[in-house]
Amino acid sequence: MRIRFFSAQKYDREFFERSNAAFGFDLEFSESALDADTARLASGDDAVCAFVNDTLDAACLQELQRQGVHTVAMRCAGFNNVDLQEAKRLGLQVVRVPAYSPEAVAEHTMALILTLNRNTHRAYARVRESNFNLNGLLGFNLHGRTVGLIGTGRIGVATAKVMSGFGVRILGYDVFENPAFKELGGEYVDLDTLYATADLISLHCPLTKDNHHLINADSLAKMKDGVMIVNTSRGGLIDTQAVVTALKSGRVGHLALDVYEQEGDVFFRDLSDEILADDVLSRLLTFPNVLITGHQGFFTDEAMTQIAEVTLSNLDAVNRGEECDNEITAQV
Ligand code: NAI
Repeated sequence: MRIRFFSAQKYDREFFERSNAAFGFDLEFSESALDADTARLASGDDAVCAFVNDTLDAACLQELQRQGVHTVAMRCAGFNNVDLQEAKRLGLQVVRVPAYSPEAVAEHTMALILTLNRNTHRAYARVRESNFNLNGLLGFNLHGRTVGLIGTGRIGVATAKVMSGFGVRILGYDVFENPAFKELGGEYVDLDTLYATADLISLHCPLTKDNHHLINADSLAKMKDGVMIVNTSRGGLIDTQAVVTALKSGRVGHLALDVYEQEGDVFFRDLSDEILADDVLSRLLTFPNVLITGHQGFFTDEAMTQIAEVTLSNLDAVNRGEECDNEITAQV
């Protein structure tokens, strides 16, 4: 089986080549993102392996099929960038990695919260310049605060577990209740109650057509003044322009993002020699109370190893004609 990787970075090659020792597939790596134009690179490949910012729309999937591809392997959990209806129509199999170290994302969520709250990123830069002044570095105790988690699946529960050590009250909102969340002391509430009560809101739900811009001017108006918002899920959950307005008014006191709705144009690249064309992102980068990382929640040794092993196991099952538990199909 020949598998072409798109959006491939050096670390993808390292982890996948290591795991491939057990499978012996023919792996081809392309740095290009996958879209309708680059799909031609998959000429003669059996499968493609894509990532979070590839564009697997109808035109792309049709081109992949023309090139002879029969399987799309997503090396991530989310699949909001895949037109599943079209994949189904074309008979393309789509597989993914539903769960890989939810702790990796939960721990990154916590790193963002602690860094942003206690300003360790700013303190680090100051101290290196021999500036030991504390002005502007004031934080707040997490202990005794109320945290609201939107999405209480694997990552939401892993986050609740870490959070519970800080002595916070944990509220949750989900379309399905998860007993594991309640066992940790989490309390389910409706969204409006969560907005009105939480000092810190962290997003852990997938992006679907129903929750695009879940955080918008209306929901922001329902939140506590000075609320901290954390998004390690998908950028499209937040109307970034509305959050910029709320940051300027002080309604949002802190914002931590590992994902951004227009991240496809910038993340995973070194643009340090270029002029940033995205004015909203440029504005966000000017706020002292905004912390942005470039979609690295998943980026631990353990998670990368699991991603590579599960992706190649998925493809192995497809190759052998066996049923793959990690196949995703359109719900029609
Ligand atoms: P999961 O499937 O275990 O849990 C998602 C939860 O969200 C489920 O309980 C589901 O019922 C709930 N949900 C669905 N729609 C909702 C809505 N409209 N409102 C509230 N809850 C809703 O998924 P998991 O593993 O916890 O991942 C969550 C998300 O995290 C993924 O969809 C992905 O977008 C993101 N992610 C980000 C990574 C990063 O590197 N920053 C890495 C991995 C995942």
